[in-house]
Amino acid sequence: PSPATAAAAPATPLIIGHRGAAGLAPENTLEAVDRADRAGVDWVEVDVQRSKDGVLVLMHDQDLVRTTDARTVFPGRAPWKVGDFTYAELSRLRAGASPAWKGTGYASARIPTLGQLLDRLDRNGQGLLLEVKWPGNFPGVTQDILRTLDRKGWLDTHHIDKRLYVISFQAAALKDVHRRRPAVRLGICDETPTTGELASYARFVDVVNPDQRGLTRTYVDRAHALKGTHGRPLKLWPWTVNTAAPARTLAAWGVDGITTDVPGTIGRAVGRG
Ligand code: G3P
Ligand code: CA
Repeated sequence: PSPATAAAAPATPLIIGHRGAAGLAPENTLEAVDRADRAGVDWVEVDVQRSKDGVLVLMHDQDLVRTTDARTVFPGRAPWKVGDFTYAELSRLRAGASPAWKGTGYASARIPTLGQLLDRLDRNGQGLLLEVKWPGNFPGVTQDILRTLDRKGWLDTHHIDKRLYVISFQAAALKDVHRRRPAVRLGICDETPTTGELASYARFVDVVNPDQRGLTRTYVDRAHALKGTHGRPLKLWPWTVNTAAPARTLAAWGVDGITTDVPGTIGRAVGRG
């Protein structure tokens, strides 16, 4: 094709370390964030919940069983829901207690607070996709998150423009953040939203985080034809892509970011690092 008709090659997608870098160290720990940093990864995604006494902590599941030794440390506390434990109790748990990390040196990793995470990201120079996890379990959690971000300086122009996205599967939580802090960029997690749903999300988000399995080139083009709430083409950052071939396909289709447990591997597969 002549230069006038040749399609521009898509930009290399942003690589986002999923739960820090869940394939390299226990998920949602500072150790995982540091592993992503050492792999040259500028952005990490983490899941945020709240302890019984109001401390924001990193944890994916609604209960502590899969990723910690809560059953052993607190045998009488079934069903081990995150919000039933004080921060002092959570800080006694090992966040690398699942068999996968046995003997790796990461087994004694702890559950970090959101504040500790933000300090670590500032030190490393990394950006954050902060997922508001299970907000229905934690009334008022979006206000708590905004308060912590503000206290740590993460709502200044630099962080808002360059380092931060707030994401969630729950549109209501994102709309609440949008209403309180319209400058904060948002991303909605959903499996494979229809074109109509994409258009309705674009009223309050800049990014859609879909399941990689539902994507096609046409789907990516349709999303990019929409504008996100801050006026730029709607971005697509699919999850969770852990092998090279699908990562290369998604990159060729022009997705804007790839969320992965193994950020070094996927970064190399798509030509980053
Ligand atoms: O970035 C989106 C991704 O984190 C959603 O999946 O279940 O790992 O929180 P999940
Ligand atoms: Ca997540």
